Amino acid sequence: PMTTALTIAIDGPAAAGKGTLAKRVAAHYGLPYLDTGLLYRAVGKLADDRGVDLDDAEATGAIATELDTSHLDDGSLRGREAGELASRVAVHGAVRTALTEFQRSFAARAEGAVLDGRDIGTVICPQARVKIFVTASAEVRARRRTDELAAKGRDVDYERILAEVRERDARDAGRAIAPLRPAPDAHLLDTSELGIEAAFQAACAVIDRAMA
Ligand code: DC
Repeated sequence: PMTTALTIAIDGPAAAGKGTLAKRVAAHYGLPYLDTGLLYRAVGKLADDRGVDLDDAEATGAIATELDTSHLDDGSLRGREAGELASRVAVHGAVRTALTEFQRSFAARAEGAVLDGRDIGTVICPQARVKIFVTASAEVRARRRTDELAAKGRDVDYERILAEVRERDARDAGRAIAPLRPAPDAHLLDTSELGIEAAFQAACAVIDRAMA
């Protein structure tokens, strides 16, 4: 049956500003928010901690099956390393399948929900009321990430970050299962030339229109 709950899917490449946007959208509409990248990050980190081969679909799939989803607020999951580990385990069907049910039940909450990730609009919630695909050029994303890290006092090299962003894009968009791509009915939101506030306003305009 068609659901009338306000489910909002926000997808896009790494460092496009999805998380910041999704969090603000969730707060604005009073909806629960799930950062699905954290699930893949947690699996990648656990696999790495246990010395499991990240290319081993079966072993990483088993870790995903046993994942305790009540411990996703560990700060160490948010760094670049965990993002890299996440992207590597995310290529495995066994990992993705193990994480599907948790995401779908979150999305099916009666009050609605906001989920951000790579395949929310295409695989996890193809029936979402609103789908937004957030993009920005690789250069802009790398520049933002470099500035963010520099602001934290980290010694970072723009060229290296740009290479990492491109490598992550290639892996996320090039994988066989649930690759990063906009759903046919997604609204594209290019934030290359938008600040956070303008991106938020643009997203709200899309959502308000869908709700009207
Ligand atoms: O959104 P993020 O940067 O935290 O995601 C980290 C990695 O996890 C990303 O490079 C690919 C994977 N991922 C995924 O495959 N599907 C999702 N829905 C979310 C993340």
